[in-house]
Amino acid sequence: MVPGEPAGCRLLDASHDINTNNMSADNLIQFGKDLKAFPDLPFKMRNSLPSHPLFEPERIKKLLRTVPRRHIEIRMVQTRDTNDQKYARGQKLDDADPVEAFERLEEVPTWMLVHESWIHDRDYNDLVKAYVAELAGHCEEMQGGIYDIGCWLFLSSKSSVVHFHSDPDQSFLNQVKGSKTVYTYPARILPESAVENLVRSSDQGAVSYVPEYEKSLNPPVVLKPGDSVFLPLYGPHRVINDDVPCISWNVGFNTRKSLRRKKIHLVNLELRKFGLPVSSYDRSHTVDTLKHFAYFGFRVKNKLQRLMGIGATAK
Ligand SMILES: [Fe+2]
Repeated sequence: MVPGEPAGCRLLDASHDINTNNMSADNLIQFGKDLKAFPDLPFKMRNSLPSHPLFEPERIKKLLRTVPRRHIEIRMVQTRDTNDQKYARGQKLDDADPVEAFERLEEVPTWMLVHESWIHDRDYNDLVKAYVAELAGHCEEMQGGIYDIGCWLFLSSKSSVVHFHSDPDQSFLNQVKGSKTVYTYPARILPESAVENLVRSSDQGAVSYVPEYEKSLNPPVVLKPGDSVFLPLYGPHRVINDDVPCISWNVGFNTRKSLRRKKIHLVNLELRKFGLPVSSYDRSHTVDTLKHFAYFGFRVKNKLQRLMGIGATAK
């Protein structure tokens, strides 16, 4: 068990609880036992990012000036004191200046998410590629191909209560500065239609909180600087910061296995639009394989409909 972890915390495998700091200066991560495939449960590893120059305040400000404003999400956020336990997304602050918001994190409860840094800043692009390459050396599932690689920088005020959501990929959340607790839930608690909307839209808002989900809560995971946690594919999660501003860096990606699942959910979405009965993912391997092939047919159909000016996708 990791010191400071809530009593009774059970992660995937004790071999993944890395407590030591004996990481080589060249390593970005320190992994436990190598994996064949990514699991449905979160697990921890270590990262060396707290000492990385890309996460120094002045370098972050440079990034905030480089990434186009529309790719920097700034929202009001609830705090431990104002937490209404609905875990909804805070109001978006479209007029806020990113550098100023970052500088005022200590005074104004704010949650910031920098999208597309790997597209607009070569250094972050190099870093995420190096990180994923290291990961791939520890997980066989990644060796068949890695797709949709991206990284997201989170800057948040002390005591922030971050909204409940799922991401459209699997990812590692790396703690750089400050500490927080991550609350995760199994993806199976979500209605299939919510997962399909998440996959279609890539919008975290496709998934909303239901208090009932607390019955399925996984053991909470405490992240301190240099800790990382694996967030399983489509698994919902929410976060509460400790009493200090936080910097976290998320690295997300798809593998051939997760892309196959994504395509099956997209086929299910199409079937649902036709009013046809839909069997959920992973109910039958044969049915899922047929749907995987059907995906390419639906893609052609949607492309033709778009070319002919016929609305293909439901909103
Ligand atoms: Fe997330």
